[in-house]
Amino acid sequence: MADPRLYVALDLPSIDEARHMVARLGDSVVSYKIGLQLLPLGGAEFGRELAAQGKNVFLDFKLHDIDATVEKATRSISGIGADLLTVHARPDVMKAAAKGRSGNLKILGVTVLTSLDEQALIDIGYHHTAEELVLHRVRQAVRAGIDGVVSSPLEAARIRAVVPKGFLVVTPGVRMATDAVGDQKRVATPGDAIKSGASHIVVGRPITQASDPRAAAIRVTENMSK
Ligand code: C5P
Repeated sequence: MADPRLYVALDLPSIDEARHMVARLGDSVVSYKIGLQLLPLGGAEFGRELAAQGKNVFLDFKLHDIDATVEKATRSISGIGADLLTVHARPDVMKAAAKGRSGNLKILGVTVLTSLDEQALIDIGYHHTAEELVLHRVRQAVRAGIDGVVSSPLEAARIRAVVPKGFLVVTPGVRMATDAVGDQKRVATPGDAIKSGASHIVVGRPITQASDPRAAAIRVTENMSK
C-alpha cells in the first residue's frame, strides 16, 4: 500500500516523537527522511533502526566541507544502511561524496535551497538566476558521478530534460491543494511533482502535523498517481 517514492520528513523535536509518528503511519509509509533537527539527537542511530525494519531512509545531512572530510563522513554514513544522503552541489564536495559512497547509499546534490530568492543569491555574490544556477549545478552533479539532486518541483521538468535516465530528482515543497503552504515558496501537488519528473517527493508538515497523519499520507499517496 505504501508508495516508496513518498519520503515523510520526520522534522520532530525528539526521537521518541519520531518513533511514535512512524508507528502511527504504520503501513501507509515506507520511506522516511531524517534531517538536521533529529541528527544531533541520535537521528543517525534511529535511521539504522528504521533501515533494519526494512524502511527506506534518507539522511539529510547536507554535507559541505573539504574533500577529505566529506569523503570520510560519507564512508561513515554508508555503514548506517540508509538509501539517500544529501551534500551541497559543489563539484569538489559531490566528487568527494561519490568517492566515499559504498553499499546502497545514493548521493543527492542540494542545488539551490528553495528558501533563497533572486535577491538572496545576489547578496551571497551569485550573478545567476536561481534557475540558471540550478541547471549549472545539475550538470556538475551528473559529471561528478552522483545519483541525483534535490530541487523544487517547479524545476523538475527542466532538470529531467538534461540528466541521464535513472537520475534521481527528489522534490520537497509538495503540498495538496487544500494544505497550508507554510514557509515553502515554490510548491506543487504530489501528482504534478511526479508528472514533472520527480522520482521521489518529500512531504513533512502536511502529514506529521495532520490530525490524522495516516489518512493524510494515504491522500498524498493517492494523489501521486493522479
Ligand atoms: O514540512 P515540509 O513538507 O515543508 O518539509 C520539507 C522537508 O524538505 C524539510 O525537511 C526541509 O528541510 C526539506 N527541504 C526543503 N527544501 C529544500 C531542501 C530540503 O524543504 N530545498
